[in-house]
Amino acid sequence: MNILHLLRQRFAAALDGLIDQPQSYLDLVLPSQDPRFGDYQANCAMPMAKELKKSPREIAAAIVHRLDVADLCDPPQPEIAGPGFINLRLKDGWLSNQLMKMSHDRDRLGIASADSPKTYVIDYSSPNVAKPMHVGHIRSTVIGDALYRILRFLGHRTISDNHLGDWGTQFGTIIFGYKHFLDVEAYREAPVEELCRLYKLVHQLVEYHDAKKTGLPELEARIAEQRREMEPLASALDGLEKPERKKTQKKMRQAEARLAELEEDLAAIQDRIAGVENHPTLRALAESYPDIGQQVLDETAALHAGDKFNTSLWNEFLPPCLEAIDGIYQRLGVSFNHTLGESFYHDRLASVVEDLKARGLATESEGATCVFLDGMDAPMIVQKKDGAFLYATTDLATIAYRVETFQPDVILYVVDHRQSLHFEQLFAAARKWGHESIGLVHVRFGTVLGEDGKPYKTRSGDAVELEGLLDRATERAYQIVCENDATRQIPILSESERRRIAEQIGIGAIKYADLSHNRESDYIFSYDKMLAMNGNTAAYMQYCYARVNGIFSKGDVDIDASRSRGDAIQIGHPAERALGLELVRFAETLDRVVADYRPNHLTAYLFSLAGRFAEFYEACPVHNAPDDATRHNRLLLCDLVARTIQLGLGFLGIDVVERM
Ligand code: ARG
Repeated sequence: MNILHLLRQRFAAALDGLIDQPQSYLDLVLPSQDPRFGDYQANCAMPMAKELKKSPREIAAAIVHRLDVADLCDPPQPEIAGPGFINLRLKDGWLSNQLMKMSHDRDRLGIASADSPKTYVIDYSSPNVAKPMHVGHIRSTVIGDALYRILRFLGHRTISDNHLGDWGTQFGTIIFGYKHFLDVEAYREAPVEELCRLYKLVHQLVEYHDAKKTGLPELEARIAEQRREMEPLASALDGLEKPERKKTQKKMRQAEARLAELEEDLAAIQDRIAGVENHPTLRALAESYPDIGQQVLDETAALHAGDKFNTSLWNEFLPPCLEAIDGIYQRLGVSFNHTLGESFYHDRLASVVEDLKARGLATESEGATCVFLDGMDAPMIVQKKDGAFLYATTDLATIAYRVETFQPDVILYVVDHRQSLHFEQLFAAARKWGHESIGLVHVRFGTVLGEDGKPYKTRSGDAVELEGLLDRATERAYQIVCENDATRQIPILSESERRRIAEQIGIGAIKYADLSHNRESDYIFSYDKMLAMNGNTAAYMQYCYARVNGIFSKGDVDIDASRSRGDAIQIGHPAERALGLELVRFAETLDRVVADYRPNHLTAYLFSLAGRFAEFYEACPVHNAPDDATRHNRLLLCDLVARTIQLGLGFLGIDVVERM
């Protein structure tokens, strides 16, 4: 039961006839920030009074007079505070009832399905295959997976589709590598590793030439320009008096900071160049293949044009690459309803462009075919001068396919914020193309940073590989599990249990750390933080769950049996009430997550629930409760905490552990 929703319905009835457009006022019915002002609060009287030109308290009184909440609130006529706040406090009896309903509902904890279920297609993970999955992929994979699980639980038809990058330049890259640099023996023994080596080698050579040809000279020119801009500032400083001097100094500092950034980029590019030039073999290869960038594009183009040999190579490479990715998905516990990669759409691209042209939506511009979009400077290119199709063309074909096949109400794209412009253009083009009625949403996310606050990279500047991250987190978790177990009088975990629990804690830590940040912000990847036993971490939540289990096993409690003893969960102590109130807010939290696709609302909720539980456990003895009825009550509250954590972590794709 979503209480907020219920209260807003009651307010809707009360406001009906009082004001013309009640909707925006209903949004001002909210959980209250301070328990002294009730459990919920309505702050709509003040702005309504403005609109109606009356006094806020008068309006508040009129609302309260019409408001029918006697069945769920105490007092039945809510109090009006200050200038016109309406404070709503839930009846203890009503709260007990809700808790009982939750307790009896084995699978759903009293959470209803959506009134009007929708069809969602969720596009997430979508890595480019043929190169190892890296740290950036964790975000799309776990955010998408959490949204998938929650939307499905809420009764929506939910379709996950992993839009693999299995047709792009990265294949041209390994095809070129295969043709020129293959180590046959290594390929026979471990094909994926050898393909990765080829990818990295060819990519490094391509980047080297790019850096020499364009990257380096462009940066040098920008640095020179920046220095030139700074010269007059420096010489002007001498002759200036106070206020002007301050301003110029500030400008100077800003310019210096920009210069420092450019110089850092320069150092990085010089490193990249040196990495090849200081290495005799690489240097020789770079010299032998000065046009490697173009050659990679040519191999890609040949693949796209149906070249026999390249196609057979593609068919040979894809299965082992997919297998490697699947290994990671298995460890993460993630699976998809569909995996329709870019290659699936390749023979639909020409007709997409034809159709756009036929409808007058695409036009030639400097040899390329473009869709011009209202209010946007840059057009979206759908076919290049040389005939090649683009990422955007595939995405248009994908929308058409999804609409035809799944008839979605909404398509979610869980993709890095750096692709924002692409999605803005794509959505605008799709709407022009006739897909006006579906919701197209870019669920964008920020960057994973290293401890230095810069995008998380290895020392050599490569993206950090995901597999290694999972290994390291699991290894750290293993140490924690062993240490915990060793402090027991008699250690209770076998080696295989320790390993299994370590994997659950390690993977859980990585997922939770990601999901607990507002998805649009960047965050710093830190094993210490994510595995901390205190704070908003998976380990803390898992610990809390294990602790409740400990209560049951210590008291020899058969909690399933206790649950079926149908008496109400009474609310006596304030800590019991605070915990009970938090528990019944689970439904509200899930609706909040899906309202703007932010799983961090759920982690924040779980963390706060764990806090309420700790306070409760401190204040309200369970086994030593004053009487049997109170003990029974408290056990049921503990049970609800455990089940809420289990279900909540489950939505985030995280396992609970019985002990740790
Ligand atoms: N493969 C792309 C990348 O790694 C992400 C694809 C996202 N989905 C989409 N429909 N464009 O950047």
